Amino acid sequence: MKIATLQITFLLCVALAITGCRETQTDYSVSSPDGHIVVDLALSNSGQPYYRVNYKDQTVIDTSFMSFDFKDLPSLKDNFKIVNTATGTFDESWDMPWGEQLSVRNNYNELIVNLEEQSEAKRRLSIHFKVYDDGLGFRYEFPEQPNLNEVLITDENTQFNLNGDHKVWWIPGDWDIYEHVYNETKFSEIDAITKQNHPNLSATYIPENAVNTPVTMKTDEGLYLSFHEADLTNYSGMTLKVDHSNLDMVSELVGSERLGAKAKLTVPFNTPWRTIQIAERAGDLIESKLALNLNDPNEIGAVDYFTPMKYVGIWWEMHIGKSTWDMEGSQDMSTWMEGKEGGTRHGATTENAKKYIDFASAYGIRGLLVEGWNTGWDKWISNDREGVFDFMTPYADYDFDDVRDYAKSKNVEIIMHHETSAAPLTYEKQMDQAYDFMKSNGINSVKTGYVGKIIPRGEYHHGQWMVNHYHKVLVETAKKKIAVNAHEPIKATGKRRTYPNAIAREGLRGQEFNAWATDGGNPPSHLPTVAFTRMLSGPIDFTPGVFNIKFNEYKESNQVNTTLAHQLALYVVIYSPIQMACDLPEHYMLDGKIHPAFQFISDVGVDWQQTKVLDGEVGDFVVIARQERNTGDWFVGGITDENEREQSVSFNFLEEGKTYDATLYRDGADAHWDNNPQDYDIEKMELTKASDVTINMAPGGGFAISIVERK
Ligand code: NOJ
Ligand code: CA
Repeated sequence: MKIATLQITFLLCVALAITGCRETQTDYSVSSPDGHIVVDLALSNSGQPYYRVNYKDQTVIDTSFMSFDFKDLPSLKDNFKIVNTATGTFDESWDMPWGEQLSVRNNYNELIVNLEEQSEAKRRLSIHFKVYDDGLGFRYEFPEQPNLNEVLITDENTQFNLNGDHKVWWIPGDWDIYEHVYNETKFSEIDAITKQNHPNLSATYIPENAVNTPVTMKTDEGLYLSFHEADLTNYSGMTLKVDHSNLDMVSELVGSERLGAKAKLTVPFNTPWRTIQIAERAGDLIESKLALNLNDPNEIGAVDYFTPMKYVGIWWEMHIGKSTWDMEGSQDMSTWMEGKEGGTRHGATTENAKKYIDFASAYGIRGLLVEGWNTGWDKWISNDREGVFDFMTPYADYDFDDVRDYAKSKNVEIIMHHETSAAPLTYEKQMDQAYDFMKSNGINSVKTGYVGKIIPRGEYHHGQWMVNHYHKVLVETAKKKIAVNAHEPIKATGKRRTYPNAIAREGLRGQEFNAWATDGGNPPSHLPTVAFTRMLSGPIDFTPGVFNIKFNEYKESNQVNTTLAHQLALYVVIYSPIQMACDLPEHYMLDGKIHPAFQFISDVGVDWQQTKVLDGEVGDFVVIARQERNTGDWFVGGITDENEREQSVSFNFLEEGKTYDATLYRDGADAHWDNNPQDYDIEKMELTKASDVTINMAPGGGFAISIVERK
């Protein structure tokens, strides 16, 4: 078994020190390598385990209890004794096959506390802490034992007792979708229930006043905290239930009505890691690799079949209503569930695909996504969605082979699209053939989708059953050497370390909401919030790059709520090894020529040697610099919320003694996300390590810089 092998290796590497049986129920503690974070574990008078977390002289998590409730079994809660404990220390560096940086340091101290019930059943449970300089993770390990075999978990009760009424950036603890606007409130003001009115969501289920993770907080003392989980495998996603009176949160797992419980497990098993990031600087939250380090190393070998890339797609045009996914032309995103008159406006035609291929190959874009190429879209949002999609049969007006050959001749890579319409059983039946079909046509990556309520009913997108489905997709695609970009996914929990074919995912309110939401779309503060919340979990397929910001010729009542320069900055700010240039090819043209600002999209990297968050405040603004692998070029992106900002950028990350040629794309003097979003300026500059530049960001604006060493 994999787990056993890993533990043995681990024992060998770190010379785990068993401290032996102890009679006394004292505190056990473990601190981070730099000593700043201290975690204690102890038993209460009733024998219930609790933990506390301190950072320097501050209590971050006060006395917080841990227990499990099961169906048809007594709870695992109190009456425990500590049998023994083990401690260890670990320090290694590993390379990311693609990522925000090449090398990642994995350095922690750990404590394993082995507990046993003082009852006849003598049930056993271990609590395993790993404490890093940038936070901690802990998980429950259920060892093999005579009196515990199969368990139906009805509740995992992991408490996070906050030491104050922190400011919180949160989305509701929806069991089906993460596509909500972030709220910024005091902890005591979190109200996930009455914010349930989400007209554009095809799936929403928020049973409790709970939040989804990552959830980020700022204490009155200015400390940043973010709560999440790592290595979510064969378990249910964790939301955090909010208790205003005690200022604490308790884990609330996503359930299953079919199971009548939250999760079903066979002992031995480990839960995912419950993680707490701790940082003095907001930007350090983004630089942290905690969740990745808590996952197992790569298990699928080289992923050289995937090259990080930019891509265009027959995509935005459906969202803004120019064309449709189905050939009949009846499905429209703006009316969502209703049909629309108007005859055939099918987007995925051979001719249209060739138009995108020509554009991509002319302007340095490697990939092309084609949505609506396969049959089934006329019924994809019907009630009975089982068996609707066919992942191998193209529509009659899409000549699959012709497009494939044309793309190849122009050096453009096709990205497959599998919208499952949340009918995963239909997908599982076809996936083997569908993946073979892809590979036999030279297609190495797929965008999957799960729009709608899950069939079978009673399961939720974020429950164990779907967690296992998403995992199965990763395993099966890895076998066939296929990379996956999942929409309506389970949240990222660092599994890309183990399965680096998990290249990106949605799992947030993406650009598409700007095209059809009736609530005004994503506010200007959206991405400055996402950078410190959703992005902490992993790569995002946000699909930036709208140049025709208002698209009034298609939809008068919708627009993107940022400036054009903000859209450019997103290629650096939002991390993903695939980045879409999502607008229509014609919107990237100006007077018959390529738009001058498109040069940045052509140039910007997608795979990084290193990343530095230069400045930022959650929900307000963020400035990130990333150095491209192979070329060594630097790119900087800065975005602001609805507030204008004078941002000073110092370039001390550049190398001493070298001169660089930079191109700055910034908001024009009169730019404004609403009044004048397309006003931009381009400026050439010479930079050295000593350079300091002040750049004005307009309301909802931003800037992007490309920096190339002068040779
Ligand atoms: C929702 C996805 O987020 C979007 O990218 C896709 O175009 C539609 N579903 C159709 O699959
Ligand atoms: Ca979506």
